[in-house]
Order: sequence, then structure tokens, then C-alpha cells
Amino acid sequence: MMDTSDEWITTRTGIKRRHVAGEDEFTSDLAFKAVEDLLARHGDDALAGVDMVIVATNTPDALFPSTAALVQDRFKLTAGAFDLLAACPGWLYAVGVARGLVESGQCRRVLAIGSEALTKIIDWQDRSTAVLFGDGAGAVIVERVEEPYGIRSVVMGADGSGAGQLHKRSVGRNLPSGEPLAETLYMNGREVFKFAVRVMATATVEAIEKAGLTPADVNLFVPHQANLRIIEAARERLDLERERVVVTVDEYGNNSTASIPIALKHALDNGRIQAGDNLLLVTFGAGLTWASSVITWAPSA
Ligand code: ACO
Repeated sequence: MMDTSDEWITTRTGIKRRHVAGEDEFTSDLAFKAVEDLLARHGDDALAGVDMVIVATNTPDALFPSTAALVQDRFKLTAGAFDLLAACPGWLYAVGVARGLVESGQCRRVLAIGSEALTKIIDWQDRSTAVLFGDGAGAVIVERVEEPYGIRSVVMGADGSGAGQLHKRSVGRNLPSGEPLAETLYMNGREVFKFAVRVMATATVEAIEKAGLTPADVNLFVPHQANLRIIEAARERLDLERERVVVTVDEYGNNSTASIPIALKHALDNGRIQAGDNLLLVTFGAGLTWASSVITWAPSA
């Protein structure tokens, strides 16, 4: 389809395999599957008391209704529902919002989903983006837990002066700079790479400090899965051993909002997360935006 090679993709990105949604499979379908998986793991009561659904996505089935409303209806929840758009960090933004809703007493349990059908907005002739992205979804429930468990810090940042580095048109025509918005996903890979390495370093330190911890307290580092070289740069800055880093980019490529929840699921399935472990999460993307968090994992309900 394009002038590329497995060797280039592997050495520059670490990606070996990606998953592509079926022709008639969209973001809502993948979100439903993620919630069904959650029910299969935690039992039929897993959604009891969920009073808010947030779907973080860049590829909603429709501008409206929200994908979250489709999830609410599919699982017959008595809940509010909205989509959250913050590019790849959207899911971690959703977790931060969910934490605020629960802590304030506004909500009891929040279903936070990251779901993407990114391969539908890619130009399959553009080798600078077509080789990177994959489809997928992941779902978690955010609820009150006992000390010392829980979400210890969340950092959410944005620098809209970088809007031109990564964009895709919806109903608009141009960015405020006058630059035309791209019909399919456009990315200035080199600039995003530099931004990612920079922000992964600062945002992780900020989340660790906000949590009152040091890098030595981090049991598992779960970064956004965009490029193995970006993950490695962040790992080296934090001086973490490879055993303390979750890497799934080889298996899934970049799933945007679904990237960290899928990586968490893999780590759980492989017995790499125990109750009491401090997880360090970090992500970056279009906007430009970023988010990071330290979570002390609670025992599974
Ligand atoms: N196959 C072969 N050659 C390629 C390919 C490809 N698929 N893509 C680009 N090239 C070529 C380029 O044309 C260039 O050739 P040239 O030197 O003759 O001009 C050469 O390879 C090097 O290109 P670079 O862009 O400098 O390659 P780089 O090492 O930077 O890797 C990449 C590109 C993988 C995109 C990297 O920059 C990257 O990962 N950037 C960050 C992307 C990211 O993390 N995005 C996350 C946010 S996504 C979101 O929010 C939706």
C-alpha cells in the first residue's frame, strides 16, 4: 500500500502488530466489548451503582448522541453520560474528572472508558501516520476506596499553541492560525516526538511529587503506548528498570485514549499489579495535551 518496511516500523516505533476494527465495527461497539469484559471479570453486579459514564474518544460514532449515551442505554444504567475529547490523554482526563465527581460526592461510581476506531480516520497512503495507529477499548470503574489505596495525584495540562502539530477536521475549516484543518489525521511526527519526550519527563515528576512520593516508590510505570523510543527515553529519565515498565505498543500500536487502559489490563492479566502497588501513568497527544497520575492500586472487589 505504501513505501515502508517492517524493519523501519520496528526500529523507529517498536510496533509489530495492530488491531483494526471490522468494516461495520465502530467506537461504540469496542466500548461495549470493554464493558462486557469488565462484567465477565467482576461479575454481573460490577456496574451496580454506576451513576456516570464517560467515554474518552477521538473517534466517536457521531458528534451526537455521545458514545457514552449509547453505553448507558446498552447496559441500562441509571446514569449521566458524556464523551470527553482531549486526544490521547482523554482517558486519564476522564479518570481525573471521575475522581473529582466521586470525591465531591456528586457521583458514587463512574465508568471511565477509552475507545477508538482510529484506523477509520487515517489516510492509508500516508506512511508517516498509517503505520502507527490501532483500534481498541478499555474500561475501568472509579469509586471510593479505603486509605492507603486510591488515586493520589492527577496532572492535566494543555498547550494549544501546538494545535498545528496534530489535527483532524470536524465541522471547522482552519485553525486560529489560518492553517487548514486536515481531512484525515495529520501529524508532525518529529515535533510531537520532541514534545512527548519533554512532557513525559516533567509530567511524571509532577505527578510523583504531588503524590508525596519519589521515583523509587513507583512499582510499575504505565505510559501511553505511542512509540517504544519515547517510552525508553522516559524510563531512562526516571531511572527505572525495564521490569518496572509496561510495554504493549509492539502488540497494539497507538490506541490513543484506549492505550493506557489496555496496558493496565495486560499488566493485570500477567500478574504484574498487586494491591498496594504505586502505578505511574503518563500520556500526551493532540492539543497539545498531557496528563499523568499516581495510583495506589486497591484490592479487586
Ligand atoms: N516507512 C518508511 N520510511 C518512513 C516512514 C515509514 N512508515 N515514515 C516516515 N519515513 C521516513 C521519512 O520520510 C524520513 O525520510 P527522510 O529522512 O528521507 O525525510 C525518515 O523516515 C525519518 O522520518 P522521521 O519523521 O524523522 O522519523 P522519526 O524517527 O521521527 O519517526 C515517528 C517518525 C515514528 C512518527 C516518530 O516521530 C514518532 O513516534 N512521533 C511521535 C508520534 C506520537 O507519539 N504521537 C502520539 C500522539 S497521537 C494523538 O494524539 C492522536
